Amino acid sequence: MHDTVLGVLVSGRGSNLQAIIDAIEQNRISAKIGVVISDNPEAAALQRVQKYNIPTVCIERKKFADKQAFEQAIICELQRYNAELIVLAGFMRILSSYFIHSFAGKIMNIHPALLPAFPGLNAQQQAIEYGAKLSGCTVHFVDEGMDTGPIILQQAVPVYSEDTVDTLAQRILRQEHIIYPQAIQLYIEGRLHIKGRKVIILPEYKGDK
Ligand code: GAR
Repeated sequence: MHDTVLGVLVSGRGSNLQAIIDAIEQNRISAKIGVVISDNPEAAALQRVQKYNIPTVCIERKKFADKQAFEQAIICELQRYNAELIVLAGFMRILSSYFIHSFAGKIMNIHPALLPAFPGLNAQQQAIEYGAKLSGCTVHFVDEGMDTGPIILQQAVPVYSEDTVDTLAQRILRQEHIIYPQAIQLYIEGRLHIKGRKVIILPEYKGDK
């Protein structure tokens, strides 16, 4: 069986991308990263991957007349590298239905809150300001809404009264780095069955008896 080809979209630091690379190197994910695409030329994620010999492409929104042309350029690169699963790893742009339909059921995102709580930007700050006692992270399939797609995995963390956005973000991030590789591997193993809003996680295949 060939390794599933991932197309990873980033905008910034790339710590989730790093967690995915590490999981691939440790055989916790049976995939290879075909391409990393950034909409931000300054993204630290682009530097991170240099030593791994992974192709990178920078596609800036401002270089295109409209959103569709920008997204078409991303789609072209993903297709050029035969990406089979699109992984949004801190990609800070909302994708249109045009993009989503091009890879229906094949786009995953990680969000730093327990969805449906605190969607959108600054999720950790939202959790602190709301006074939540628990927050966490969510890996979900991407649909046309903002952080509304079917949920694959979630992990909760406590929110302490002395937390700052940074301390909470760090606590959540440690869990992001665990559940994102797990969700990707479940997808690769064909164990994620989308049924309406629900993602059913099928049992591990143990082989014929
Ligand atoms: C992560 O916390 C991720 O959950 C969040 O951005 C950070 C990216 O960090 N994503 C979103 O907020 C998406 N709406 P990273 O670049 O180090 O992986």
